[in-house]
Amino acid sequence: MGALQIIKSEHRNLYRVLHVLRTVGYAMRDGQRFDNQLLGAIIDYIDAFPERFHHPKENEYLFKALRRVSSVAEETLAQLEREHQDGPGEIVRLRTALAEVDKGTPGADKLFADMLVSYAEMGMGHMHKEESIILPLAAKELSAEEWKTMDEAFADNRDPLFSEDAREEMRGLYSRIVALAPAPWGVGG
Ligand SMILES: [Fe+2]
Repeated sequence: MGALQIIKSEHRNLYRVLHVLRTVGYAMRDGQRFDNQLLGAIIDYIDAFPERFHHPKENEYLFKALRRVSSVAEETLAQLEREHQDGPGEIVRLRTALAEVDKGTPGADKLFADMLVSYAEMGMGHMHKEESIILPLAAKELSAEEWKTMDEAFADNRDPLFSEDAREEMRGLYSRIVALAPAPWGVGG
């Protein structure tokens, strides 16, 4: 698989997870309660893979290569980079908010639910910008040689949740994530 396909498939996978998180956020706003440990495990996954592998590689390879050949997407690139930069801080805030839910702090559920919904929506909007503006431009503007460098850079990504050699426990996590969301998105609810 080349870099373009890898990026798209990583987006699809993250989209699925964010979609579940948003649904969970909506349900929490309605007073539904979830397994906090499982929510923590999902946040751990986002921190461990999309935040640490996917986004930095986009910055380092895709965005840099694109900047070398074209300035038309500069504004979008700068915005996407800011969003990548904010990601780790958002994860910290989510964890802190979840810890408050766990302690039973009054109002913590609502706050965490709101953060979950906005984190998920931001992530989905972010990927939409990459898919609709950046990837088509890169497909058009980057040379075969540049793509080769990117193919190599992205090939060693090992998504702990979705790759073929994903560990058994992470596969278990994925079925638990899917089971969290009400039908038709998951089997729960
Ligand atoms: Fe991306």
